[in-house]
Parts: sequence; C-alpha cells; structure tokens
Amino acid sequence: MNQETKVHVGRERPYGQFRAMVPSEEHGAYAAMVSSWTRGAEHMLPKTTEDIMGFFAEGHAVLVFDGEELISHVAATYTYSDGAIELGAMYTNEAHRGRGAGTVAVGTLLGVLREKYPDTMVFALANPSSAKVFARMGAAVMSPEDLSEEVWQPCESCPKNPGSIPFHCCDTPYNLSSIPKTGLSI
Ligand SMILES: CC(C)(COP(=O)(O)OP(=O)(O)OC[C@H]1O[C@@H](n2cnc3c(N)ncnc32)[C@H](O)[C@@H]1OP(=O)(O)O)[C@@H](O)C(=O)NCCC(=O)NCCS
Repeated sequence: MNQETKVHVGRERPYGQFRAMVPSEEHGAYAAMVSSWTRGAEHMLPKTTEDIMGFFAEGHAVLVFDGEELISHVAATYTYSDGAIELGAMYTNEAHRGRGAGTVAVGTLLGVLREKYPDTMVFALANPSSAKVFARMGAAVMSPEDLSEEVWQPCESCPKNPGSIPFHCCDTPYNLSSIPKTGLSI
C-alpha cells in the first residue's frame, strides 16, 4: 500500500443523507453485490468480484450508502499505457436512482484521483444514462480519436456487445478532467 492510498482508504464522509467511502480489502463483503450489479446491467462491462476487490485494494473505488444500505459504486477501472485513467463500473441500485448518489460517487472519486494523480486525464465511456450525469457535472464529450486504441479492446470481448460493434453502447467518451472541482473528496 503506498502513502497516497493510506490517506484515503477506509475513510468516509457524509454528504447530506448519503455517506461516501473509499473501500479497502476489508470491505470485500460489498464486492459481490457490486459485481452482480455490473453483470446484470444492460450496457456496461461486467466485472467479477475479484475485479471489484482489486479496485478496493488500490483505493480506486467509491461506495455510497444511504444509512447502512449500499446504493452506489464507481471505480477507476483501467490505467492505460499513456497514463489515462478510465472511470467505470458506475452503478446505482435501481430503487435509489435520480437522488444524486451517482453524482456523489463520481464527484468523490474524481476528488480522490485528482489528489493522487494530479496531472492525469480521467475519462469515461458513457451510455445515455451516465452521459447525462457527466454532462450535468460539466464534462466535455471527447473525440474517440483522442483516446488510445487500447481503450476499445475490452469492447471486443464484451458479452453485452456480441457483435463487437464499436460506438454502439457504453462508448461515448467524456473527459471528466474537464469537470470543475466539486469539493467532493475524502
Ligand atoms: C448511470 C447511473 C449510475 C446514474 O446514477 P444515479 O444515482 O441515478 O445518478 P444521479 O441521481 O446522480 O443523477 C441522475 C439524475 O437524477 C437527478 N437528481 C435528482 N436528485 C438529485 C440530487 N439531489 N443531486 C443530483 N442529481 C439529482 C439528476 O439531475 C440526474 O438527472 P439527469 O440524468 O437528467 O442529469 C444509474 O442510472 C445506473 O446505475 N444505470 C445503470 C448502470 C449503467 O448504465 N451505468 C453506466 C455505465 S456506462
């Protein structure tokens, strides 16, 4: 565990009625639920419980709770060879959508990543529902050519896009580094 990770992991902060947390390996009990969310959602890459545990171990995820109930998750899911970080595995429990939990999750993770990796570009490949959240937060749409070829490789084996059709589902790039600082961090 590096010094930066120690600063954040396991810490949490209240946001109105929500509580945002940067989980560690100790919070692995939540990983299976997050994995099942990603596997069940229509337009997002499925992640295994081990994948999610890896994000927790790196201090690269945010969980949002309403009381004791886990309602939302987002993570830094890839770091590419050009240094760009992809934010993904973004999900809010259906019963709690439209309450701002996804916005708190994204804003909090961006705050953490900006502190840990200040000069790094953070982006997301959005589907229509996440695109609205990113756009409302102030993110700019990117040209796909602004991203390395590597970014599109997971799409080729995505079971939710069996024809490997590019620009078909969760594939509209947003530059999240262009979002003004939200003040959300941990
Ligand atoms: C995308 C997703 C994570 C958004 O989560 P969410 O918790 O509903 O997001 P928010 O509540 O922050 O924002 C959703 C809407 O609620 C509104 N909202 C309501 N109350 C709000 C509040 N107090 N604060 C902020 N926004 C609020 C927002 O304006 C937003 O409207 P918009 O979509 O027109 O911009 C969720 O729809 C989801 O899990 N979808 C399925 C998985 C998926 O497709 N993930 C993306 C993969 S690319």
